Amino acid sequence: MNEKERAAALREEIERLKKEKGAVIMAHYYQRKEIQEIADFIGDSLALAQQAAKTDARVIVMCGVHFMGETAKILCPDRKVLVPDMEAGCSLADSCDAQALRAFKEAHPGHTVISYVNTTAAVKALTDIVVTSGNAKKIVESLPKDEKIIFGPDRNLGGYLNSVTGREMVLWPGACHVHDRFSLEGIMRLREEHPEAKVLVHPECRKPLQLIADKVGSTAALLDYARKSESREFIVVTESGILHEMQKACPEKEFIAAPAEDSECQCNECEYMKLNTLEKVAAALRNESPEIEVDEEIAEAAMRPIRRMLELS
Ligand code: 13P
Ligand code: SF4
Repeated sequence: MNEKERAAALREEIERLKKEKGAVIMAHYYQRKEIQEIADFIGDSLALAQQAAKTDARVIVMCGVHFMGETAKILCPDRKVLVPDMEAGCSLADSCDAQALRAFKEAHPGHTVISYVNTTAAVKALTDIVVTSGNAKKIVESLPKDEKIIFGPDRNLGGYLNSVTGREMVLWPGACHVHDRFSLEGIMRLREEHPEAKVLVHPECRKPLQLIADKVGSTAALLDYARKSESREFIVVTESGILHEMQKACPEKEFIAAPAEDSECQCNECEYMKLNTLEKVAAALRNESPEIEVDEEIAEAAMRPIRRMLELS
């Protein structure tokens, strides 16, 4: 069997198993394009959580990273949530552990804790409200102006929110290793080569990149901007998996991936997101494993700030 025939056979098997098992496949925009193609639903972190909260499927195959599977499991404790590769972690979630957050909270008494969805269930359990990049501004603005807030773990998103809301949230010093290493120099060079191009930047990127952006937003917001814009060229400063859906949604437009610092590559990929493959999705459905488990007590405590986010979104 050649590569193409093998992929076709896997797609067929996935389709059959999905029906047999009563499963739904959800995928983040950063997934490999062949995974986006077999997904029943593709979205940003917020849409994936919203979709998980309302699905009636017996099995959810979450093609994303571990915290996305955990969020789905917390929202649907009676469903089986599978993540095709359990090694699919997140450097941003890893930058904040629950014990250190507990100490940080003690050092800042009287503060409301807002956590980005890119966190472990144990960190969410210590949180008052969870946010994603798609709803963070709206949720921060919904709180009284004088409310004292800790925001974590992404310092770039936190800094962006402070600048657009005029708040002075105390920031946890974490970052995503993909978004934190985009090359300003490389992007300025691309801008010179494509003077008409709009620059689309994810708020997990550093401040200088946010400042030169035509649009700062979540993956879904950047996609929406590209769809509605009159422009024909876009420099995309986020994980390059999103280019697949952008190109599909706007075949007549050109999307240029932004490069990372110290890299030969012309784009910037999250190796965790790329761990999921068609083979692993098929195996996960076949074996109904690996399955996400969340400690009951932690899940109960983490459910509240996630529900609060969904209500405020
Ligand atoms: P969004 O898709 O919510 O913008 O998140 C980006 C991200 O880094 C997910 O890991
Ligand atoms: Fe985490 Fe960054 Fe990968 Fe998103 S792109 S999953 S924030 S490491």
